[in-house]
Amino acid sequence: MNNVLVTGGAGFIGSNFIRHLLSVETEIRVVNFDALTYAGNADNLKDVQNDSRYLFVQGNICDADFVSATLRKYEIDTVVHFAAESHVDRSILGPRQFVETNVMGTFTLLHEAKKFWLDESSLPQITKRFHHVSTDEVFGSLAPHEPAWTEETPYAPNSPYAASKASSDHLVRAYQHTYHLPITITNCSNNYGPYQFPEKLIPVIILNALEGKPLPVYGDGQQIRDWLHVQDHCEAIRLVLQKGKIGETYNVGGVNQPANLTIIETICEMLDEARPSGAPHKNLITFVKDRLGHDRRYDIDTTKISTELGWQPRHTLTEGLFDTVQWYLANLEWVQTIRQRQDYQGWIDANYKAR
Ligand code: NAD
Ligand code: DAU
Repeated sequence: MNNVLVTGGAGFIGSNFIRHLLSVETEIRVVNFDALTYAGNADNLKDVQNDSRYLFVQGNICDADFVSATLRKYEIDTVVHFAAESHVDRSILGPRQFVETNVMGTFTLLHEAKKFWLDESSLPQITKRFHHVSTDEVFGSLAPHEPAWTEETPYAPNSPYAASKASSDHLVRAYQHTYHLPITITNCSNNYGPYQFPEKLIPVIILNALEGKPLPVYGDGQQIRDWLHVQDHCEAIRLVLQKGKIGETYNVGGVNQPANLTIIETICEMLDEARPSGAPHKNLITFVKDRLGHDRRYDIDTTKISTELGWQPRHTLTEGLFDTVQWYLANLEWVQTIRQRQDYQGWIDANYKAR
């Protein structure tokens, strides 16, 4: 890794990944390539913006000419591809953008990387890598006693978001099989931690609870996700870049699966301690209309990455949640800026008013 293009580096996981990379790699140049959609926020990397190893390029992964020019200009040898539309609820209300970005955007990146790296033999083979960041949602939903998903589990995506990510995974795999583009893929579970956009479950619950607003629980709240601290995810991706086998997929997960309601109650208890409000925050819990096609249960088997590459998550969910709650309490200004800038209220109304 010399010149790394991180797509979607102004988003939640991408910004944590860039910070992680800069903290562990000295001889590196990181180009953050991001369109700054509603979910992108250049302020997420304010602390590294003057680092000479880092630079920001505003661009869209669907723009083939600009992607091509950027690969060439910075002699990119490694692409770490996070850029995507990432919110399941938004994909239910507006699926088209998910196909554009997640399918066509990934295709464009793959095709331009192939032209630059393979057709023109621009850089030595050994130095190139296209790493694609994907999700466990491509596997669908599990019944109560079904075993966890492995890398061999057939894809069965249920939401437009999951289907668009599954399509992108297939394209990445096909570029390796057909053209020998040097790729790796990670499929990971629900990330949480600092800088997560306040539309996903954990930040929604923390922020609503602080403001005394209802805590919206979809359906019966017994849906199960695997929760992975974003720092653990970033470490896993770096390890796959260093030691992962070309053409391989690795599952990444936090190895814990509480029901949504348990997560919400835990956050409420943490806020009762940190910001007592006179009544338990859990009194705000409100059951609302379920998500369409809501996946019931996720569970991801991480045996491959732990046995082959030696990766393990370092955060327990309790510690990770505690740190996350503290981070939001200390960064309410960051939340406020997002809410003012990015039509946040419009989304909240669109998603929650009719529930
Ligand atoms: P996010 O929504 O916080 O950030 C997405 C970033 O991509 C934003 O900065 C946005 O501006 C950028 N972007 C969107 N469209 C773009 C385009 N056309 N061109 C360039 N940039 C564009 O997402 P996240 O939660 O950080 O997720 C990052 C990746 O990880 C996604 O691919 C997602 O599918 C995957 N993933 C996320 C989770 C999770 O729990 N958040 C879990 C598994 C996989
Ligand atoms: O599993 C990995 C996926 O995790 C990623 O690929 C996605 O990018 C990421 O957004 C996440 O998807 P989920 O749909 O699982 O995350 P979300 O935070 O939206 O919802 C988590 C669970 O909480 C889910 O069962 C729906 C429920 N939920 C969510 C919101 C926003 C609620 O009950 N209330 C809410 O207000």
